[in-house]
Amino acid sequence: MIYQLAPSILSADFNRLGEQISIVENCGCEWLHIDVMDGMFVPSISFGMPVISNIRKESDMYFDVHMMVEDPGRYITDMKETGAQLVTVHAEACKHLDRVLGQIHDAGMEAGVALNPATPLCMVENVFSKADLILLMSVNPGFGGQSYIPYMTKKIRKLRCMIEDAGYPDIMIEVDGGVNKDNLETILDAGANIIVAGSAVFKGDIEENYFALQDVIDKFRGQ
Ligand code: DX5
Ligand code: ZN
Repeated sequence: MIYQLAPSILSADFNRLGEQISIVENCGCEWLHIDVMDGMFVPSISFGMPVISNIRKESDMYFDVHMMVEDPGRYITDMKETGAQLVTVHAEACKHLDRVLGQIHDAGMEAGVALNPATPLCMVENVFSKADLILLMSVNPGFGGQSYIPYMTKKIRKLRCMIEDAGYPDIMIEVDGGVNKDNLETILDAGANIIVAGSAVFKGDIEENYFALQDVIDKFRGQ
């Protein structure tokens, strides 16, 4: 199983965005988590396609775009044009989730489905065959810097069992929200393999933060 740390640029200093992305990339980071918010699905507005296209020019990382957007099917072609490789849409934001996952694959990208903390896992079980990744929100989406919701650990564990029992062990489980070096081992042990971290990477010394989190992952994998 692959394990990746996916720093979320939502917590970066946007005045120094390119520079801060280069810091994590130079640390050896392979994934970049990019949070797009529309002010409708979530209260806040972050940034959109022009920003992603511009950071693509300077980065070779795998772009993991998390769309916190109502009716995201409207933007799949535009996302492909930015250079995104994985697009994750919220099940709660799609009237036709199966169709949207098909659109993402047809555009040549990997497809993820995200669930808010209170959304049951049964929302995604019918589309396991169409999902490369399932993102479990471990805070209510919309803002960086919130605290991890403790009941999410049980939900991660349950999803890991569900995908294995259903015969889709290769689906990646991404956990997003409130991850830090103190709770990371518990989250990995529950079955997550793609770890989003915003403030835990970009607040303070980015390089030091990155290696502290990567160290927890390396130790866990070595077990
Ligand atoms: C929140 C976003 C997250 C956010 C995580 O809605 O989806 O990706 O940036 O930030 P932290 O790690 O600070 O909770
Ligand atoms: Zn996110």
